Amino acid sequence: MPQRPDDETTTRTSQHEGTGGAPPGRTVHLRAAGVSLLLDVAAMPRVVHWGADLGDLDGPGLDDLLLGARPADMGFPVDGEVVPGVLPAQAEGWLGTPGLQGSRDGRAWSPAFVVDGRELTHGGAEGGTLVVTAHEAAAGLELRLVVELTPQGLVRQRATLTSTGDDVYEVGALQLTLPVPERATGLLDFGGRWARERSPQRTAFTHGSRVRENRRGRTGHDSPYVLVAGTDDLAHRRGEAWGWHVAWSGNHRSFAERHHYHPGLLGGGELLERGEVRLRAGESYTSPWVYGAYGEQGLDSMADRFHAWLRARPHHPRRPRPVTLNTWEAVYFAHDLGRLTELADTAAAVGAERFVLDDGWFGSRRDDSSGLGDWYVSQDVWPDGLQPLIAHVTGLGLEFGLWVEPEMVNPDSDLARAHPEWLLQLPDRLPRPARHQQVLDLARPEAFGHILARLDALLTEHDIAYLKWDHNRDLVDAGHGPDGVPGVHGQTQAVYRLLDELRSRHPGVEIESCSSGGARVDLEILQRTDRVWTSDCIDALERHTIQTWTNLLIPLELMGAHIGSGTSHSTGRGATLGLRAGTALFGHLGIEWDLREADDAQRAELAAWVALYKDVRALLHSGASVHADPDDPALQVHGVVAHDGSDALYAVTAIASSEQLPAGALRLPGLDPDATYHVRPQAPGDVVTHGRAAPWWNPTGVHLTGRVLDRLGVRSPQLSPERLVLVRATRVA
Ligand code: DGJ
Repeated sequence: MPQRPDDETTTRTSQHEGTGGAPPGRTVHLRAAGVSLLLDVAAMPRVVHWGADLGDLDGPGLDDLLLGARPADMGFPVDGEVVPGVLPAQAEGWLGTPGLQGSRDGRAWSPAFVVDGRELTHGGAEGGTLVVTAHEAAAGLELRLVVELTPQGLVRQRATLTSTGDDVYEVGALQLTLPVPERATGLLDFGGRWARERSPQRTAFTHGSRVRENRRGRTGHDSPYVLVAGTDDLAHRRGEAWGWHVAWSGNHRSFAERHHYHPGLLGGGELLERGEVRLRAGESYTSPWVYGAYGEQGLDSMADRFHAWLRARPHHPRRPRPVTLNTWEAVYFAHDLGRLTELADTAAAVGAERFVLDDGWFGSRRDDSSGLGDWYVSQDVWPDGLQPLIAHVTGLGLEFGLWVEPEMVNPDSDLARAHPEWLLQLPDRLPRPARHQQVLDLARPEAFGHILARLDALLTEHDIAYLKWDHNRDLVDAGHGPDGVPGVHGQTQAVYRLLDELRSRHPGVEIESCSSGGARVDLEILQRTDRVWTSDCIDALERHTIQTWTNLLIPLELMGAHIGSGTSHSTGRGATLGLRAGTALFGHLGIEWDLREADDAQRAELAAWVALYKDVRALLHSGASVHADPDDPALQVHGVVAHDGSDALYAVTAIASSEQLPAGALRLPGLDPDATYHVRPQAPGDVVTHGRAAPWWNPTGVHLTGRVLDRLGVRSPQLSPERLVLVRATRVA
């Protein structure tokens, strides 16, 4: 039910075709890529349906749809039905989480916005954007709400709140929502820690709230990442999924809630501390973008929408993702021109295209206890500067990249000694250190200006094509300015500004978002970076899981994946080169291994994997990621299928020993069901060691339709645990 009469809501409204039948101006129906977003806009917008495409609703059927969508008037907290808006409010009778929380010193805490106008930009089958402006006269607030359905079928929303009152309005939260239906009975989200990011966790979607709060001052190793409500049968290739992502690299909150009088909402936004956002007259606060992705056929179909949207961005990296040698696990802090030029030579010989000098090149940074913040090339380690190394690397035909951690200082650094007041801190104490470091208060213009100038100088003075931008601690007691007011909101915005400014000054430089591994992976940092460091753990078995779930939000070309040495530095587990390389292949490939210690056979095998990556990266970095729901949990199959169905590459990984002998079916998902494919092993991932090849396991392979490959599959070669093989499927004319 509209909470306010229609005639209060229809000024400055412009609507175009496809906005629904009757009554005029009451609904907006956005459709794109198999998704419908049907909004009741008679008052503040409320979502009638978010999910599968409802078809053309222009015409008389819409009245009946709206009538049919109305529940019996019973059981609500107030008289009449209660349907929360995208910004839910108590004024609507909603007693769940309010969208806007805040007050003027205890007053104006329960808003009832009145719509002033709506602007609808329609893209036809390409979705569209609805902008609603509204005001709350008694509270002295104005609101601008943007609800967009992108051409890829992704919902994006954000809101800007402006205070017009004389006294301060303190914002507690500005959170937007999307509804999900009763049949979404389960929730999937993620926990994690350093070196084990994005660990899936499933719970039932019961009455009450599941709230994921992050106060780490960064996205976090344990961020909910994508909070998914799904049907009982939800898996990679089946079930319906409604995914929610808060695109914010500071404190944030996601929630799913269900009440006896409402089937369920997904919601969230920035998590603000008391006093963090206080609006004086004319000042505004804008929420992060929040994203909703619907999947009609499992998690893969939901992920497709995120991937398609990211790939459509103008600044999405489009040139081939260069094979990267990163020096961290190769030499750590042991920087030395001779050692590193030799490493560059071996990297070039196996086919690397980018060489990244990691931590340890600056100031007194010989280990992680000092020098952070002193962004001057160390005279001790690099008496002739970085130029000799850069000249050597670029002379080999490789790009040069450099590690920085601009938001941080070691207390034992010239910068921290010169400007102790530049640290995020409370008036009476410094935060507890983490990894011997503190955080620079980049919302202070002097600190911001200094770091910008140093990074700008480094990029201007050197031939640097790439920055690995690290961030190695959570923000604790992050007070800003002399009063130590909550500083995470300002810090997060300042980091975005810093990245934006550097990118505009050095548009050709690519930037990687690293944060002690993968603790800063979100859609807002990716608006200004070109790759994420997925995890500090490059143990291939761990990576198999971490990459599978990281890929739920971001496509493979944005996901840094490195081949480490034979024994993992983070877990101590040994792995074959085939498992390490075949796992890292499905990402933006790199090497993080002291190749000077590799023998000729290892280098030759590595070179073959690098050559394969170069051969297939166009497919891997443009196609659809697919994950089979395995018949045998010990045997995991994932891959990439070209969007035109012409080509596909799959990895088959034995993550454990199977209960079955011989091994079971290998079903290959995502192919064109009616096309015939030539299916065969893909070298160099065609070697079955300590196992037994299946009869078809040879270059002749088999010719089968996509339908047969999906439903029946082929028999798997017998793989020993922790072995990986590759399967190629090419459409035949
Ligand atoms: C954490 C990163 O994730 C590593 O890859 C490495 O760059 C270290 N920091 C360097 O201190």
